[in-house]
Amino acid sequence: MKEVKIYDDKHSFEALFEEQALRKFKVNEQKLLIAKTKEGFFAFEALCPHQKHPLKQGQLHPNGQAIICSLHGYQFNLRDGKAQNSKCQDLKTFQVGFHPDGVYLKLY
Ligand code: FES
Repeated sequence: MKEVKIYDDKHSFEALFEEQALRKFKVNEQKLLIAKTKEGFFAFEALCPHQKHPLKQGQLHPNGQAIICSLHGYQFNLRDGKAQNSKCQDLKTFQVGFHPDGVYLKLY
């Protein structure tokens, strides 16, 4: 597992987001989304594992714990990527970490 710095300053990073918001990031040529919900920050792959639809067009579940793909409505847990209402493969998720020198993602 490797940690990659994605932003220099926690407060500036947090200011990029409204609550229940999704933003695109590119880390090591990998397109990711980061969501801010009432449960915290979550990072995950940008394309749905079902048929590769962009999850940026999806919706965050009101409970702050899942992303819902807009194409077929499959839901994925934001903490572990588990598909919740389908037999679809799981979504890849990445841990967002705040350190004194910036914001990091743990990549696997
Ligand atoms: S492509 Fe996302 S649920 Fe089908």
